[in-house]
Amino acid sequence: MIDLRGITQIYPGPQGPVEALRGIDLRILPGEVFGIIGRSGAGKSSLVRVINLLNRPTQGEVIVAGHDLAQLNEARLREARRDIGMVFQHFNLLSSRTVFDNVALPLELAGMAKNAIRQRVQPLLELVGLTALADRYPAQISGGQKQRVGIARALANRPKVLLSDEATSALDPETTRSILDLLRQVNKELGLTVVLITHQMQVIKQIADRVAVIDAGRIVEQGRVIEVFTRPQQPITKRLIDEIVPQDLPASVLDHVRQLKNQVQEGAGQLLRLSYAGERAYQPILSRLIREHELDLSILHGQVDEIQEQTFGSLAVYVSGQEGHLARAIAQLRTEGVLVEEVKTEG
Ligand SMILES: Nc1ncnc2c1ncn2[C@@H]1O[C@H](COP(=O)(O)OP(=O)(O)OP(=O)(O)O)[C@@H](O)[C@H]1O
Ligand SMILES: [Mg+2]
Repeated sequence: MIDLRGITQIYPGPQGPVEALRGIDLRILPGEVFGIIGRSGAGKSSLVRVINLLNRPTQGEVIVAGHDLAQLNEARLREARRDIGMVFQHFNLLSSRTVFDNVALPLELAGMAKNAIRQRVQPLLELVGLTALADRYPAQISGGQKQRVGIARALANRPKVLLSDEATSALDPETTRSILDLLRQVNKELGLTVVLITHQMQVIKQIADRVAVIDAGRIVEQGRVIEVFTRPQQPITKRLIDEIVPQDLPASVLDHVRQLKNQVQEGAGQLLRLSYAGERAYQPILSRLIREHELDLSILHGQVDEIQEQTFGSLAVYVSGQEGHLARAIAQLRTEGVLVEEVKTEG
């Protein structure tokens, strides 16, 4: 649905050129919710602005719904942009227009007749749950309701792609949840491709199918959300998911392990961090491990969470037993798809 090839974006600046995007290749599939996450200044907004050609990239191709956007003339580009709806962090509603008229605006601009507009806008207001507020002005509704207007407006031209740049950053957690649910709903019901820009992993966790991590103008990691959460590769990715899946064990756990190590003989036990994802029943794997390899195992810390009905978990366990047994047990866990990492407790 969206194909970005070798995108570079260089802005002129007072202290010389700013390289905001440095060779981005990205393919976003029809019907998926694709998250793009990165810290402030990473290049997220630059990237969305390139996708609808609000910014012309310095280099590279932008192909959306089959059109190579940079090759189109102004008129054809305007047409192609109707396939792309956009939702903004600060809603960008016109304060002098009612809710209804804000949603109607893109249709008026497209030259649609009044009657047809009414028939298009009413079901959209229904979809976003604002039918009762159609005649209010933006100043008379809440932030969450404003974003619902923004979403309805973005859907007015029946786009194939919805771009959302920090659409929930100005909202409280509960309203964020309901707006993300709404985006998920339009993704499913309308088959819309959604590109979600955010700096919060919570947002990615709630609705994205796949995620790309952008840092200093480059995509440094991408994959299915559950994979990236359970096996983050880059330091920046680890930092970003830390709020949801803490990457370091609490000091109290490490202290406890140091004490355990002092009690038993040198090298007898190991602190392991086990991560797993999917439907894999975890408890049976552990109990079988203990039985078959004659190990002692205590679970010291852990959490289990869910991403789109897929369970994923991370456990810190202290395992002791004969050395050969331990090595075999670890090998077996790995063949069962569990990620096993030894955690150092020194220092
Ligand atoms: N119009 C511009 N002119 C010059 N430099 C710009 C311009 N827009 C963005 N930049 C620079 O490009 C880099 C990327 O900015 P961008 O707005 O894409 O980041 P972002 O990831 O959206 O950040 P945030 O999370 O704060 O919104 C930054 O260094 C920024 O200062
Ligand atoms: Mg931005």
